[in-house]
Amino acid sequence: MAAESVAQWVNPLRDEQDKRVPHIAGPCSLVIFGVTGDLARKKLMPAVYDLASRGLLPPGFALVGFARRDWAHEDFAEIVKEAVKEHSRTKFRDEVWERIAEGTRFVKGTFDDAEAFTRLAQTLKDLDEERGTGGNHAFYLSIPPGAFPVVLEQLSKSGLADPEPDEWRRVVIEKPFGHDLASAKELNALVNKVFPEHTVFRIDHYLGKETVQNILALRFANQLFDPIWNAHYVDHVQITMAEDIGLGGRAGYYDGIGAARDVIQNHLLQLLAFTAMEEPINFEPSELQAEKIKVLSSTRLIEPLDDTTARGQYGPGWQGSVPVVGLLEEEGFAKDSKTETYAAITLEVDTRRWAGVPFYLRTGKRLGRRVTEIAVVFKRAPHLPFEKTMTEELGQNAIVIRVQPDEGVTMRFGSKVPGSSMEVRDVNMDFSYGQAFTESSPEAYERLILDVLLGVPSLFPVNAEVELSWRILDPALDHWAEHGKPEEYESGTWGPASADRMLERTGREWRRP
Ligand code: BG6
Repeated sequence: MAAESVAQWVNPLRDEQDKRVPHIAGPCSLVIFGVTGDLARKKLMPAVYDLASRGLLPPGFALVGFARRDWAHEDFAEIVKEAVKEHSRTKFRDEVWERIAEGTRFVKGTFDDAEAFTRLAQTLKDLDEERGTGGNHAFYLSIPPGAFPVVLEQLSKSGLADPEPDEWRRVVIEKPFGHDLASAKELNALVNKVFPEHTVFRIDHYLGKETVQNILALRFANQLFDPIWNAHYVDHVQITMAEDIGLGGRAGYYDGIGAARDVIQNHLLQLLAFTAMEEPINFEPSELQAEKIKVLSSTRLIEPLDDTTARGQYGPGWQGSVPVVGLLEEEGFAKDSKTETYAAITLEVDTRRWAGVPFYLRTGKRLGRRVTEIAVVFKRAPHLPFEKTMTEELGQNAIVIRVQPDEGVTMRFGSKVPGSSMEVRDVNMDFSYGQAFTESSPEAYERLILDVLLGVPSLFPVNAEVELSWRILDPALDHWAEHGKPEEYESGTWGPASADRMLERTGREWRRP
């Protein structure tokens, strides 16, 4: 299906042999449900503009918003324009904007209103005629998970999910994909009743990040790393996604969900899969997915969970030099909320490559600083022919993939301190995207929306990955549910004391990036 739909559109600029030339999406529209939400305003609309600005959208492209507001097409276009001006990556240019504005439509309605979906179907039909969108439409569900069933049902009943033979329909689903394994299975069944799996694009925006894709380049394009990328040399792996922001304004989504469901189940387990998987035969979607599925199938929590997991909730503290309130004082959160804003787990990957190497995953809000990184920490050298005092400041070698900010890779190793003694101290060798390349990286959503329109599913987790990720995480969620409140940590610090103890027990410590 993907190949067919790409083939329908002949891009005159593209030499089929040369994969470096970017693909331009074929005739199509993008319909966004949930246009009044934060994600649509900050990420989706700007990404559409950035794609248009890079010339990657087809001439008759249409952007359709669906929401309850009483807006005319022009009002919606104005909302999109403001969002674009504020958040897009590329420079605002009137001629680019005019092209988008011409194809912008708005359909007013609620999710349970069948007539609104009939109007949507008519709007898309009109676009096919007026702008040549060719019956190819992607439906982006940027809506609360509770609204999935009704929207899917309406799409099905109104015939919008059924393309003619030479057309396509696709659905894009934002996480959370369920609340646990059982609900994810229900959701997947529901989605697949309406949209066949190859037309379902589950967004995990981390996979759209250049630095995440670079894990594959680093591992599989080089000879340098693979020989040491295994349990013989690696002591442990730390995957960190730390944020300094709090949860003000996000209670509706976050309360009752928490850090593990929000981030570990998807982003961090995908990072683990890229770090630990075997080499795929090639980068065809099915090959990549097969390797990810294999490694996730071999991954499980190390027990006892009291010792190997930790969770916390931010209390008052400081964000830089500004005092901030704790979660329980944030607007909209229940005063006795047990939602964790910090979570850490220990995993093992039962394969020949990784047996015995713990993978520590942690994420949290209101931590010391915003940083996402994967640190592969190596065993100490088996023997050091130096005076003991000369290596007191020698740590463990590490390769750190800096996902963001300051994207790049760091290698840490010991080096002689200048002087007459043979003292050895840790130093860092850095590769930085900003310095090595002149091209700036596209935003994750830019890449992923383009892939949806092209029908290229490589960077979208399939059903099986989502379910395996829940299978891995569920025992920790159940364990925490039985054990009362998460431990409070001070905003601006690196999380609860129990997280430090979790690593200290094994003689290790968290990196302080
Ligand atoms: C989202 C989470 O998926 O990722 C948010 O729901 C989080 O809680 C966000 O803040 C972080 O994304 P990024 O790209 O800024 O690291």
